[in-house]
Amino acid sequence: MKLMVTAGPTREPVDPVRFVSNRSSGKMGYAVAAAAQLRGHDVLLVSGPVAIKAPGGVELIMVETADQMQRAVMAGFNKVDALVMAAAVADWRPAVVHVQKQKKSSTSLTLPLEPVPDILAQLAGIKGSRLVVGFAAETENLLSEAQRKLSAKRLDMIVANDVTAPDAGFEVDTNRVVLVWPDGSSRELPCMPKTDVAEYIIDWLEENLPASAT
Ligand code: CTP
Repeated sequence: MKLMVTAGPTREPVDPVRFVSNRSSGKMGYAVAAAAQLRGHDVLLVSGPVAIKAPGGVELIMVETADQMQRAVMAGFNKVDALVMAAAVADWRPAVVHVQKQKKSSTSLTLPLEPVPDILAQLAGIKGSRLVVGFAAETENLLSEAQRKLSAKRLDMIVANDVTAPDAGFEVDTNRVVLVWPDGSSRELPCMPKTDVAEYIIDWLEENLPASAT
């Protein structure tokens, strides 16, 4: 199959030296890209800024902002059979990006933020037979929130993780996830290395792709 994977955070600029971002390390998405590549799939990795090295043999597109990630995903989507959206895309960005560095002052600063368009939601109407897998990073109501996102974004599977657990979510090498499907079924996996979670995701994609794409 031809698979697109997104990974890492996005950075939303405030001015030439500052940005708003999040704690995503890119490890989960990079593990999915590496697992797929090792099984002989054709992988396009769209990555935000991370400190890890891309797996050999994957096509890599580095982006910084949510806007750039959206453009890269849109440009690649019609060429792939499946998308795994592991990136932690910003939900808000500064409404105004200053051209010059903002000078410090002793008064407090309010930063107006505007919402960022949801990439997965935009793909819902054009997905066709492609399999689309999302992630849900939650701090409460894990299953119900994952189910809400699965249906709102018309996903084929969502990988839900409680990012408050010390051995799951951002930055660490392990993850503790629940796989959730549109028919209401779910499968809770024990804590395991992100590289093993990646194998489960690729297994599921391989089993569920239309025969023409395998
Ligand atoms: N996502 C996206 N575009 C965005 C934000 C998120 O495509 N602008 C994708 C993420 O890559 C992930 C899924 O949507 O696969 C869920 O992301 P998450 O941050 O868990 O949820 P949100 O939809 O942002 O909702 P909330 O912040 O309310 O939890």
